[in-house]
Amino acid sequence: MTSPLVIAIDGPAAAGKGTIAKRLAAHYGLAYLDTGLLYRAIGRLAHERGLDLGDGAAVGAVARELDPASLDDAALRGREAGELASRVAVHRQVRDALTSFQRAFAVMPGGAVLDGRDIGTVICPDAQVKIFVTASPEVRARRRTDELLAKGRAVDYGTILAEVRERDARDAGRAAAPLKAAPDARLLDTSEMDIEAAFRAACGIVDEAPYRDED
Ligand code: CDP
Repeated sequence: MTSPLVIAIDGPAAAGKGTIAKRLAAHYGLAYLDTGLLYRAIGRLAHERGLDLGDGAAVGAVARELDPASLDDAALRGREAGELASRVAVHRQVRDALTSFQRAFAVMPGGAVLDGRDIGTVICPDAQVKIFVTASPEVRARRRTDELLAKGRAVDYGTILAEVRERDARDAGRAAAPLKAAPDARLLDTSEMDIEAAFRAACGIVDEAPYRDED
């Protein structure tokens, strides 16, 4: 008997990993966890409480209190929450506080898809399928800008590109669980793909994964 399917999706901001992960979960009948929401919720809570976001001990205490049932809040999906998330996500204390919740989610009986920055490397190193979704910073900034413009926000491409680069540098440069592809992850570069093509490519990776032939 094979164990339930776990798919780990990692990658930088606006590469398409959230949409791909959600669609894979629906397609293969798996539970889905957007782990970025955990960091976003902690960033926002810490900010609301006026904490110094550079204080790992104080922000770690917020992380240990987090109620994962409180993640269903549209405000968490905004740009500001993303910024706050990446600032609190550098702390070891914050990451450690979230590890057991994420791992418990991953081992649920029906299988799961998790997306984030360190799923294939730290949270689920034994996931049967690992995909590192990426795209050039320019393409990602263009997508983010178009998304925000479609929501009626006044944003400009240059500002978003600078934000994308800054966030990449912070996520990849931190000591605790930096953003990087696991050695056994398949790379999916979506720079030249629309979401439909990216989803089909991701399904191809899942269908080809060795676990599918095991019994
Ligand atoms: O899609 P986008 O990158 O805008 O947002 P997200 O996936 O919600 O991640 C927001 C921030 O949370 C990232 O820039 C990371 O710093 C952090 N994060 C992390 O460190 N580890 C994760 N597993 C997920 C998010």
